[in-house]
Amino acid sequence: MRAKVIGSPVDRADARSKVTGTACYSVDVALSRLAHAVVVQTAIPSGRVRQIDTSAAEQAPGMLGVLTHLNTPTLAEVPVFPAGPAAQRLAPLQNDVVHFDGEHLAVVVADTLENAVHAARLLDVSYDPDSAVTTMGTAAQESAPDSIFGEAPDSVRGDPATALARADVRLDAVYTTPVEHHQPLEPGATVAAWDGDHLTLYDSTQWVSGVRAAVAHALGMRLDKVRVIGPFVGGAFGSKGMVWPHVVLAALAARHVGRPVKLVLSRGQMFTSLGYRSPTVHRLALGAMDDGTLTAIVHEVTQQTSTFQDFAAGAAFLSRSLYRCANVAVRHRQVRINAPTPTVMRAPGEAVGSFALECGLDELAVKLRLDPVDLRVRNFAEVDPHERLPWSSNGLRECYVLGAERFGWTARTPEARSMRDGSDLVGWGMASAAYGVNREAASATVRMCADGRVEVASGTQDLGTGTYTTMSQIAADALGVPMYCVTSDLGDTNLPPAPHSGGSQTAASVSPAVWAAALAVRSRIVALALADENSPLHGRPPDAVSTAEGQLFLTDDPNVRDFHAAVVARQGLDFVEAREDAGPASHVAFAMRSFGAHFAEVRVDPDLHEARVTRFCGTFGAGRILNPKTARSQAIGGIVGGIGMALTERTVVDPRLGRVVAANLTAYKIPTHADVPEVDVCFIDEEDLQVNALGVKGLGEVAIVGVAAAIANAVHHATGRRVRDLPITPDKLG
Ligand code: MOS
Repeated sequence: MRAKVIGSPVDRADARSKVTGTACYSVDVALSRLAHAVVVQTAIPSGRVRQIDTSAAEQAPGMLGVLTHLNTPTLAEVPVFPAGPAAQRLAPLQNDVVHFDGEHLAVVVADTLENAVHAARLLDVSYDPDSAVTTMGTAAQESAPDSIFGEAPDSVRGDPATALARADVRLDAVYTTPVEHHQPLEPGATVAAWDGDHLTLYDSTQWVSGVRAAVAHALGMRLDKVRVIGPFVGGAFGSKGMVWPHVVLAALAARHVGRPVKLVLSRGQMFTSLGYRSPTVHRLALGAMDDGTLTAIVHEVTQQTSTFQDFAAGAAFLSRSLYRCANVAVRHRQVRINAPTPTVMRAPGEAVGSFALECGLDELAVKLRLDPVDLRVRNFAEVDPHERLPWSSNGLRECYVLGAERFGWTARTPEARSMRDGSDLVGWGMASAAYGVNREAASATVRMCADGRVEVASGTQDLGTGTYTTMSQIAADALGVPMYCVTSDLGDTNLPPAPHSGGSQTAASVSPAVWAAALAVRSRIVALALADENSPLHGRPPDAVSTAEGQLFLTDDPNVRDFHAAVVARQGLDFVEAREDAGPASHVAFAMRSFGAHFAEVRVDPDLHEARVTRFCGTFGAGRILNPKTARSQAIGGIVGGIGMALTERTVVDPRLGRVVAANLTAYKIPTHADVPEVDVCFIDEEDLQVNALGVKGLGEVAIVGVAAAIANAVHHATGRRVRDLPITPDKLG
């Protein structure tokens, strides 16, 4: 293919609008007569609402209306993924039952945000509490989820019990991870505006089409009566992948008061309203021969979910396929407690699963006196041992080699506590990364306009990942026009449909559609020029024509040329347009993953017991990198998320109340600049044409997988302390 701007570090198309503040996020949408809604949430974890006294609130200044379960219309239950859009099953405000602390129980609407906040505080709610189960440890029974994103929760190959018993070296350990919250900078936010029976939602979402489907279903509306717009998303990390109840509440509130309504969740409400990462408890047993050959992997995970909906991440699935091993058993169990339903978050299964597996490999390496990289190379899986399929591409070994070289891994001395800098203990750790390659059907249109502009459109989302930029790059190369001519539009259900921006699938799904549409436009323009007596190219064969810089020219005689825009203009057209629908990938013949390797250096103060990451190198095999600049940023984002997971991030729930303690960003510590060293990101040279015509695999989530393990392994190397429960806070090293 003619790659000119594809693969080059083009500046982010939306950078200027974001830096100057002109990018309009859902929270910024201003409409005339806009009213403001505030959600009121339960203050007990289980029971019933006895009474909601709204009389004081209704007298408050600027008050426009209150919705409670007493006056909210009956809503249809939304079919959940995979049958329908990803959504919280439980429709809001349908009855007086309380399932968890922080569940929405009313919406108060007023003319200003201040008046709405004030009126919301005047609601007088009384309850009949029930006993509640607020922690995983106190849940009465565990169950197996029916399926985990379509896969069976349990599987066995070979005979893991016998293999473990016969292993030369064994490990059997428990690893745990806490409740974590996504904490995007932009909270959940929806602006709802009715025009007769037509609803427009401006929503911060990872899937405009999913919001449309879920809201239309809940309200019993036709799809074409709902439009969802979300051109900018201020971070999501999975929290905006499901359609959460506040979105429907915004629509209902707007209808109730007869005005457009803006509903923005508070930071505190973000701890109960957009899901979270379930805490996980992993039992990991590994068996190996003296030479390091893995002979058994047993990975059993318990997670929590709400009392009313299943959600489980495939936390042990990575253990089936990352390494060659004949005897493997994985098992997933869930317990139901009085908590919100968890959801996908930053590589939902692999992020936590890799903490167990990759720390386990490190523990095994110590027992075997093998270098951690060497142990992994010895167990490299030449084919996917679970699916028993060849890899479409697998750059794991290249990632080990390149990452180790860039990091300087060979200078590592293997003994724990053997490396120091002054009084600081220094440790180096590493881990593998892998994440599935996903791709779904997507559509795009490309327009070549008579004035020289190129417009690309797809109803996809840019979560800050660079989608605007890469869409334009692809169209520019396919058409042979410069980047500055191309603009891309997305985040609107009026545009050709595109899938959920989750599972790291946006680039792999949308790029082929944009590529195909732009090639179709190019073919039409070439055909028009060849048929046009006024074109210098008239009558030439199509395969003699090349395109570049917005011009068509004879490959053998570049002075014979015409302009794309002139061809369109001479036809008397405003534009030439094509739409293409790119199908989902076939997963039959190949197993598809993105891979990576992480190398971390930590320094631990021997008196304060604080571990800090001081160097980090992440190396990835993620197929063709469309834009190394935005890709690098995305990888750094994943690694920063992993640093948080390793060292600081944890949501504390008071077990007596079932309530998040200190639901704010002071208590929930995400890494700041001072916590993050310069991160070295590098990509191996790879394109995977089994995935799609552009060779793009997917990058969003593989970047966090293994990061926490690499850091925990570095902490062990520095201190000799094996911390198996995240985050690694100073109290655990003291
Ligand atoms: Mo991502 S956690 O699949 O939105």
